[in-house]
Amino acid sequence: MQGFTQYMPTKIVFGKAAEKETGKLIKEFGASRVLLVYGGESAVKSGLLDRIKEELRQENIVYEELSGVQPNPRLALAREGVKKAVDMGAQLMLAVGGGSVIDTAKAVAVGAANPDIDIWDVWMGKASVCTAKPVGAVLTISAAGSEMSDSAVITNQEIGKKAGFNSDMVRPKFAVLNPELTFTLPKYQLACGIVDILMHTLERYFTPVSGNQLTDEIAEGLMRTLIENGKAAYEDQENYEAMSEIMWCGSLSHNNLTGLGRPKDFACHKLGHEIGGMFDEAHGATLSAVWGSWARYVYKLDVARFARYGRKVWKIEDKGEEETAVLAIEATEEFFRFLHMPTCIGEMNIGVQSEEVLKKMADSATKGDTVKLGCFKKLSAQDMYEIYKAANHR
Ligand code: NZQ
Ligand code: ZN
Repeated sequence: MQGFTQYMPTKIVFGKAAEKETGKLIKEFGASRVLLVYGGESAVKSGLLDRIKEELRQENIVYEELSGVQPNPRLALAREGVKKAVDMGAQLMLAVGGGSVIDTAKAVAVGAANPDIDIWDVWMGKASVCTAKPVGAVLTISAAGSEMSDSAVITNQEIGKKAGFNSDMVRPKFAVLNPELTFTLPKYQLACGIVDILMHTLERYFTPVSGNQLTDEIAEGLMRTLIENGKAAYEDQENYEAMSEIMWCGSLSHNNLTGLGRPKDFACHKLGHEIGGMFDEAHGATLSAVWGSWARYVYKLDVARFARYGRKVWKIEDKGEEETAVLAIEATEEFFRFLHMPTCIGEMNIGVQSEEVLKKMADSATKGDTVKLGCFKKLSAQDMYEIYKAANHR
């Protein structure tokens, strides 16, 4: 078994009406002044936000609000949040929403603990920090896994660049998971979320390091559970059992449980973030659009691994390593199609892109071909361009 470090500090409260615990959880983590961060309208419309505010009042928690977080959350709003948090002396950032809201709260938490530093410098690796304010989350969409992850992804719209910051210091202290809160999701967002959850484990499953049988079995079990319940939830998203399984898959898929003992690849995320940063496309769609092309580009490096994925996750009868591997890639794309997710760039809202744009994205992702991305195959700018080209249209 390979060695690993495991750190999963987030307290999870899961189930119907779990959000009623929010005020108590904030108190438990020693905060009485909170910045309440939320998105455009869904939490307001559903009445969730009012219920959370009532919870805060009942616990005598002072709060101010940072609203209007958009998908592919903007740096500008996070900077505004830092100012608010510092001015009010916020002791904890409470995110009510999805990955974009939680990531904004995380960015504010970093900025509020380090007010002399511009947060984008931290995201660009130009400034380092060793502390952040605590974050708590009330999750409304199963997708990014930010409620347990060490990551926060922010978009600097001025330059069309999306970037992540990874550190244990931004792992939320607690997360409230009530699957019923996800019943109101638009079908497209539900589907994007399911793709993202699958990708978080796939990006940990295809790496050059083997071993850790239990990690493999957990990863395969999570993917099978997600696929089965993803199909059921897509047909009926008020199916509480299916939405519950998806929600828990979402948290475990990105807290690193499915990758213990091996490095993360995350090349597809890098490919997707370039599309998201440049064109403001939904994260999950950017991943389904590139994964098949990435897989076909790299699978020969370890055909047996792709074949195992086919047998264990897609229950494909063994037809020899090569054929089973290819069938596994096709089955994954078929699942994306079932969810009405794009399997190439041309099927996204932005349509087929010019060679110039593809090259620009490959160049930006690899910082002018100075870094290689991923580890299953370390991708150069040329490799990324080839994958984008293959993913442009089918
Ligand atoms: O703003 P509102 O009105 O709330 O609408 C949101 C938003 O339009 C809507 N929504 C959320 N919950 C809803 C709902 N609509 C109705 N009912 C509900 N219950 O869904 C839309 C998408 O929300 P968003 O927060 O953007 O979704 P998601 O959780 O997929 O987050 C995506 C962001 O997370 C980043 C992505 O890159 C992207 O920016 N990621 C963050 C990660 C992390 N921090 O660990 C890892 C991921 O790989 C990912 O990169
Ligand atoms: Zn993701």
